[in-house]
Amino acid sequence: MRLVCTAPGAWALQKEAAFIGRAQLCGGRFLCFEVDARWRGRGYGAWFYRQVLRAAGLGPADALTAAPPADDAARAFLARRGFAPDAAGVWHKAPVPRHTGSSALAVVHAFWRAHLHPGAFAVDATAGNGHDTLLLCRLVGPSGRVLAMDIQPRAVAATNARLAAAGLSGTGRAVLASHAGLAAWAAPGSADAVVFNLGYLPGAAHGVYTRPDTTLPALDAAAAALRSGGFLTVCAYWGPPQGGAERAAVLAWADALPAEGFWVRRFLFEGQPGHPPAALCIRKR
Ligand SMILES: C[S@@+](CC[C@H](N)C(=O)[O-])C[C@H]1O[C@@H](n2cnc3c(N)ncnc32)[C@H](O)[C@@H]1O
Repeated sequence: MRLVCTAPGAWALQKEAAFIGRAQLCGGRFLCFEVDARWRGRGYGAWFYRQVLRAAGLGPADALTAAPPADDAARAFLARRGFAPDAAGVWHKAPVPRHTGSSALAVVHAFWRAHLHPGAFAVDATAGNGHDTLLLCRLVGPSGRVLAMDIQPRAVAATNARLAAAGLSGTGRAVLASHAGLAAWAAPGSADAVVFNLGYLPGAAHGVYTRPDTTLPALDAAAAALRSGGFLTVCAYWGPPQGGAERAAVLAWADALPAEGFWVRRFLFEGQPGHPPAALCIRKR
């Protein structure tokens, strides 16, 4: 299998002697993409799409508009890559925010909105008061599923109460469990998204907070739980009481991810006063 450039901005997917897929990028942003029906559902399309983006100098976070999908399979393919139709039926993929004038939480929320699709399975590895779990439930919709984890019973209760009040208990639920044991809750390759909002539970005693000895195994488990194309986000804090060790460990963990397996973007908010939390947006290739 190989990528063949057939003209400027145009590529074909060659398998043995035959071309089984074609892609064209017009104006650098408008993607026409197809794989012959008999070769779909076997990973050829995913490989071809990644190679085309790479050849065009684009990353998974860049904005694109796609030609109208021809059928349900093509629609599902685009949805898995973060495209969604607008009111006119045109399929767009929103960019990841690049500015640094915002906050870590705003960056990861924008990333979820751009890349989480209805029907997805998402894990909130730090349920806390359930604000993030609620947003995830809204984004995955009634056909999706959200599992939230926390080691504090009051966080689990607060999250489940928030979901019940919003009528979303059928979509999400919180369980009393450490994210270090995430592998027992999400099989390898099963999750579309795993999100971490590290730190302590706002409104509770600050003595319980996330720590590198459980966060790092949880990140490993999250990376394994993601399906290809799925994403992981982390908000990492470094002010009192936990200090900077966890944030440093998380950034080092992300730096060590193999580039051929993961796309990583860091938002450090350097230059902002105080201890601005860092955001990581990571996509599994
Ligand atoms: C900053 S809060 C999360 C905020 C939450 N996402 C929200 O929207 O309200 C961090 C949470 O991580 C939880 N936590 C700490 N260690 C944990 C662990 N090992 N496994 C799961 N949750 C943990 C804390 O109890 C706390 O509730």
